[in-house]
Amino acid sequence: MSEDFPEKTKIFVVAIDGPAASGKGTLARDLADILGYAYLDTGALYRAAALEVLRAGGSCADEDDAERGAGALRAKIESGGQDAALSNPDLRNDAVAQGASKVAAIPAVREALIGLQREFAQNPGGYNGCVLDGRDIGTVICPEADVKLFVTADQGIRAERRMKELQSKGIDATYEAVLADMRTRDERDSGRRAAPLRPAEGSVVLDTTDLSAAEALAEALRIVKQTLDV
Ligand code: DC
Repeated sequence: MSEDFPEKTKIFVVAIDGPAASGKGTLARDLADILGYAYLDTGALYRAAALEVLRAGGSCADEDDAERGAGALRAKIESGGQDAALSNPDLRNDAVAQGASKVAAIPAVREALIGLQREFAQNPGGYNGCVLDGRDIGTVICPEADVKLFVTADQGIRAERRMKELQSKGIDATYEAVLADMRTRDERDSGRRAAPLRPAEGSVVLDTTDLSAAEALAEALRIVKQTLDV
């Protein structure tokens, strides 16, 4: 290989999938920090697409509105607005979370966002590895990922965690309401025809029901290090 064309360094990809409030987001972010890898929260893309739809007065379940929302988001990202679009605090609202789950069931929306995610996995800036979390990273976006984790937990425990998180932000939330929301979202994310949530072939299932965040991180790190030999 000549000096003009140095051999491309291999990018290590860690794919993390799992249902809402399974702990995958914190885990993915912490893993990326420890490993010195780039991180992409792909749920934020679907949330940002839903926010575009809601701001335009559309319905997240409507195919045309959702496709327009995804297109508007993509245009923002392509013109350098990714950080602003994906760090908007409104993305964390429950209405936006439900909207994200609706737009994410529409094939044209997934299609519009696939390229951005794969591009990130192949070229994560100056990093030699990346961690992506979502629902279809190991199954659709990066089926060749070096490590695939499926992070899950009992639905009741996940609802309790989400309730505490909301309460810690001063948001009034009852366990029953949070559980009902979570059930709806789980059913929609796992039951849809386009890229449903399920463990990817070759993934390691990490059940965090009885684990603290620190224990889950230690276990994930053990799995990653064992696979990547780092
Ligand atoms: O991970 P999250 O809660 O931020 O995701 C919000 C919604 O986006 C979730 O209900 C399903 C959808 N999603 C998806 O379908 N595929 C992904 N890779 C990430 C999120």
